[in-house]
Amino acid sequence: MSRAINVLGIETSCDETSAAVVRDGREVLSNIVASQMDIHEAYGGVVPEVASRQHVLAILPTIQRALTTAGVGWEDISCIAPTRGPGLIGALLVGLNAAKGIAFARHLPLVGVNHLEGHIYANWLIGAHIEFPTVCLIVSGAHTDLVLMTDHNTYQLLGRTLDDAAGEAFDKVARILGLGYPGGPAIQKLAAQGDPSKLKLPRAWLEGTYDFSFSGLKTAVLRVVERLDETSDLTRADVAASFQESVVDVLVTKTKRAAEEFGVRQVLLAGGVAANALLRSEMDRRIGRPVIYPPLSLCTDNAAMIAAAGYYRFMRGDRSGLDLDATANLPLA
Ligand code: KG4
Ligand code: ZN
Repeated sequence: MSRAINVLGIETSCDETSAAVVRDGREVLSNIVASQMDIHEAYGGVVPEVASRQHVLAILPTIQRALTTAGVGWEDISCIAPTRGPGLIGALLVGLNAAKGIAFARHLPLVGVNHLEGHIYANWLIGAHIEFPTVCLIVSGAHTDLVLMTDHNTYQLLGRTLDDAAGEAFDKVARILGLGYPGGPAIQKLAAQGDPSKLKLPRAWLEGTYDFSFSGLKTAVLRVVERLDETSDLTRADVAASFQESVVDVLVTKTKRAAEEFGVRQVLLAGGVAANALLRSEMDRRIGRPVIYPPLSLCTDNAAMIAAAGYYRFMRGDRSGLDLDATANLPLA
């Protein structure tokens, strides 16, 4: 029997320090996530300098725990796959430099991974059968990308947000509604008590393109909330529900159109906003073909997804040099 390929993934692009060991690109042996969310919550968002410092404190113990939990030693690791971008530059550098140091000291191959590609590959960790070409909607705190994936690690960008990302819109609207950070889960919870039909919010269709825009919607919410008072029949929960419905409607409509145009067998969902229950249920209801999405724990930032993407790059012969640098705005395609 051929030897298993164990990839050590390392993720530090934002506010989670994570390390994971994944076997043969599909089996998660460990996935340790040290979250800084409690620290950033006090500021209402991620403070880049604070994030970098926390990564420095957490990175080595997190990597050590990933190996121990997986029950493997360095001799069992075939390759190290760190996130190289996009993300906060100071945060990225911590994970990337740790990976480079270990690769040099242990004579291990290094394969840099795009964070967005990692989000897509979370879908390979759940045993689903995925055929190419496939359409993938990546919705995170910083990105809203609609992508055609024609083979492993091969992408064509169909559309993207022209202003705020979907997750960013959730976070900003949560702040307008006086909810905590991160905004997505808080809005989803409040929306469950609201009635979306009581308020019709705008949808930016940007006809003829697969691009998105959410900043007008955010401004519309701000105007409505400024006029809310005790005598109003409209509640903050109604506003949250209507906002969520508007975002989900646009995301699902455009994804469905792309799936039809490119005749794909299934659609993949990826990124933190893919944790949204309404987005999942509306995708299932409206797309007209199987929709694959990761479990909640693999939707938000984690290193197992980075290791999975790194595995397929490694198997294709991709290798990064020790001069690999972090790139804050690294594009996917
Ligand atoms: O992918 P991710 O963990 O980090 C980035 O790479 O950006 O995504 C974080 C984003 C945040 O904006 C957060 O509010 C959003 O994902 N999010 C959600 C939900 N859970 C997380 N948005 C809507 N509904 C959720 N349940
Ligand atoms: Zn992410």
